[in-house]
Amino acid sequence: MALTSFKPVLRIAQREKYAIAAFNPVDYASMRAMVEAAVELDAPLIMQTSAKTIRYYGHEALVQWYRQLCEDVEVPVTLHLDHGKDLDMIKKCIDLGWTSVMIDASDKPLEKNMKITRQVMDWATPAGVGVEAEIGEIGGVEEDIVVAEEDAHLANPDEAEAFCKEFDLGVFAAAIGTAHGYYHGEPDVQFDLIKEINERTQPPMALHGGTGLDEATIARCIALGCAKVNISTNLKHVFIDGFVNYHKDNPGDYEPLKVLTAQFEAMKELFKQKITEFGGAGKGKAVLEEIGQLH
Ligand code: 13P
Repeated sequence: MALTSFKPVLRIAQREKYAIAAFNPVDYASMRAMVEAAVELDAPLIMQTSAKTIRYYGHEALVQWYRQLCEDVEVPVTLHLDHGKDLDMIKKCIDLGWTSVMIDASDKPLEKNMKITRQVMDWATPAGVGVEAEIGEIGGVEEDIVVAEEDAHLANPDEAEAFCKEFDLGVFAAAIGTAHGYYHGEPDVQFDLIKEINERTQPPMALHGGTGLDEATIARCIALGCAKVNISTNLKHVFIDGFVNYHKDNPGDYEPLKVLTAQFEAMKELFKQKITEFGGAGKGKAVLEEIGQLH
């Protein structure tokens, strides 16, 4: 059974110093392309749905696609909710088959953030669903969450330590200088902060804002304790460009399945490249075996 919570899977990645790629699908084909990429590379995978994507397709369709695509594969695949802010939506994800959820109450003061996170932990834990939570505020645009540069602020290591002592998180998101969307100028990644937080906390760290970070930067973050790397914007660009470029190169071709195939292959190539870059290739079956889910 390949439908897994990310909690045990990410602990293994943290121990072995690689990261699991977490991609935000935008439709069925993008989900299928990421699963094919993961299976061909024997890599664990996290597919994370944004709130906007859930509102567009509905919970039921997304979870059915997940089950249909992933139930019988021999790599661990997590269906995760990215940046959950709406408690009703989060509860429905837990009830309907998401294997992990993110509660993002990072715009609230620490105490309130912890109170809301407690509520989600109380729903998720008995259901075997892993939880991601965030402190500090990551800047940029992630779907309909917009955090202006002046509102973004780094995580405080004392608060990170207190937060992670309070909750048995699957993964911890801390604002460490990355941002959602393409970077304007050089990203100002705070490596010392990543190091300090990881020295003082147990759960692996999620690296948000993976689009536009170069390979060396990501490798350094992974070496310091990041075990989940999020990629969304990059996929959106490949999704559109894959379609448009085919049509530009073949202006007279109005065969939809050919355009969709070109788009699919472009997405799959991106997924393979990122999975390989983050070190996940060749780990999938071994992880499933270690967590007792390889049958
Ligand atoms: P990018 O859009 O910069 O890839 O960030 C994705 C992300 O962190 C999703 O939570």
